Amino acid sequence: MVLAAGLGTRMKSRQPKVQHELCGRPMLAFVLDAALEVSGRRPLVVYSPATAGLTEVFADRADFALQPEPLGTADAVRAAIAAAPESVDEILVLSGDVPLVQTDLLAELIDIRRARNAAVALLAVHSAEPEGLGRVIRSEDGGQVLRIVEDKDATPEELEIEEINAGVYAFDAAWLRGRIGDVKPSPVSGEFYLPELVTLAREDRRPVVSLEVEDDGTLAGINDRSQLAAAELELRMIVNERHMLAGVTMIDPVRTYVDVSVELAPDVVLEPGVVLRGSTKIGEGTRIGAGSQIIDTVIGRDCFIWASVLESSEVEDEVQVGPFSHIRAGSSIGRKARLGNFAEVKASRLDPGVQQHHFSYIGDAELGERTNVGAGTITCNYDGVRKHKTKIGKRVFLGSDTMLVAPIELGDGARTGAGSVVTRDVPAGMLAVGVPARLRKPRAEAAPGDAPAATALPAAGSGQAPVEEANERTL
Ligand code: UD1
Ligand code: CA
Repeated sequence: MVLAAGLGTRMKSRQPKVQHELCGRPMLAFVLDAALEVSGRRPLVVYSPATAGLTEVFADRADFALQPEPLGTADAVRAAIAAAPESVDEILVLSGDVPLVQTDLLAELIDIRRARNAAVALLAVHSAEPEGLGRVIRSEDGGQVLRIVEDKDATPEELEIEEINAGVYAFDAAWLRGRIGDVKPSPVSGEFYLPELVTLAREDRRPVVSLEVEDDGTLAGINDRSQLAAAELELRMIVNERHMLAGVTMIDPVRTYVDVSVELAPDVVLEPGVVLRGSTKIGEGTRIGAGSQIIDTVIGRDCFIWASVLESSEVEDEVQVGPFSHIRAGSSIGRKARLGNFAEVKASRLDPGVQQHHFSYIGDAELGERTNVGAGTITCNYDGVRKHKTKIGKRVFLGSDTMLVAPIELGDGARTGAGSVVTRDVPAGMLAVGVPARLRKPRAEAAPGDAPAATALPAAGSGQAPVEEANERTL
C-alpha cells in the first residue's frame, strides 16, 4: 500500500507532491517500482480528490483506493484496507514521498516482522537532522519501541531524539484490519497518525520491531522543495556513480544532470553543466561539452556536442554540433555533418557531410550529402498560414544569406549567390542569383558535356559566394 493522498501543502504546488520528479521520474514511480519488486504484487495507491490526477498517470502500474479527505496517514490506511484482498496476510505500507527507499531494506523489514510475528515492523533511522519528523521513543534500555511522537506533538526533550520513523512499515494484515479503526486523532493537530498503531500493538501485547539504519539519504521524506533538491542530489550521485563505473567520464559529477532513463556508452565524456533528459542515448567516445542540453535524442559515436540544445532527434556518428546550436524535434543529422555556431535545424534531414556553420535556419527540409549551407542561410518555410518543404540535392552550395522560399527544390550541384532570394526551383548544376533570384549556368559548366557534379566546389564552410556570382552582379 502506497500513501499518496496528502495535500503536500509544503510543496506549494499545483501538482500532487508525489508527481514531482527526481532525475526525470516522478517520485511515486520509484515507490511503485520498489513495492512491486519486493512484493511481486500490483501496489495499491491511496489517493484523495486533490491527488486524483495520479489515477490516470499511473493507471497501468497500480490499483487505487480513495481516501475522501486526507485526515492523516492512519485514516488513509483505514480508507484503503477494504480494497486489499482478504487473502493478503501481510501489508507493507510505503509513503509516496519516500522515493529512494531500497528494496533490500524492505525485504529485511518484512523478514524481521515475520521472524517475531510482530504486529508492526518499522524502519528507524539515526539522523542528525530529525526536524519535522516522527521521533522514535524507546524503553530505558533502548530495546523496545514504545511509541512514535510526531514533531508537532513532541516535548522539547523528545525533540532532542535523533532516531526517526521513516514512514515505512510492515503489518500483520489481520491485526491491522482489526485495529486501524481504533486510532484516535491527535489532540494537537486533529490528524489520525499511522504510527499510533505502535501504541495499539503494545496495548495488545503484540511485538513491535524496528529495523535500525543509518541515515544515508535514501530514507529522507520529501515534504518541500528543499528536500526535493536534496533527494535529487542523492539520486544524482547514485546514477552518476553507476555511469562512471561503467566507463563514462564526468568532469564534475555533482554538476552533471542525467535522467535515470538515459543510456550512455563507455568513453562518453560529460563536461560540467550537461543536462541529459528522457530517452537520450549516447554512443561510445562522444563528448558532450559544457552547458549542453539533450532531450530524447539518440547520438552516435565519436561526436562532439558543444554548448547546444538537441531535442527529439537523431545524430549519426562523428558529427560536430555547436557551440550554440539548436536541433529541434524531428531532425536527423547524417554522419560527419558539422553544425554551428548558431545553427538551427527543425524537422529536417541532413545527409552525411553537410556543413552548416554560421547562424542559419533549416526547417522542414532535406539536404543531400555534402551540401554547404552558407552563413545566414534561411529556409523561409512558413508563409504565415502553412509550413512548406525545402528539398536540396547533393553537393549544393548555398551562398551567404540565401533565402529559400519554400516550397522549393534545388537539384544536385546547384548553387546560390550571396544575398539571393530563391523563389523558384533550381535545376541540378544551375546557379541562382539576385532578388528574386534568376537562373544562370555557372561559367565553369558552360563547356558542353560538363556534368554539374564535376564542378569543383569552393572549400566547404567558407560560406563565400562562387566566383561566377560576382560576374553576374557586374553584368
Ligand atoms: C510521516 C510520519 C512521521 C515520519 C515521516 C517520515 C505520520 C503521522 N507521520 O510524517 O512519523 O517521520 O512521515 O517521512 O504518519 N498521506 C495520505 N493521507 C493523509 C495524509 C498523508 O495518504 O491523510 C500520505 C502523504 O501523501 C505522504 C505520506 O502519507 O505520501 C506521509 O504523509 P506526510 O504528511 O508527508 O507525513 P509526514 O509529516 O512527513
Ligand atoms: Ca512526508
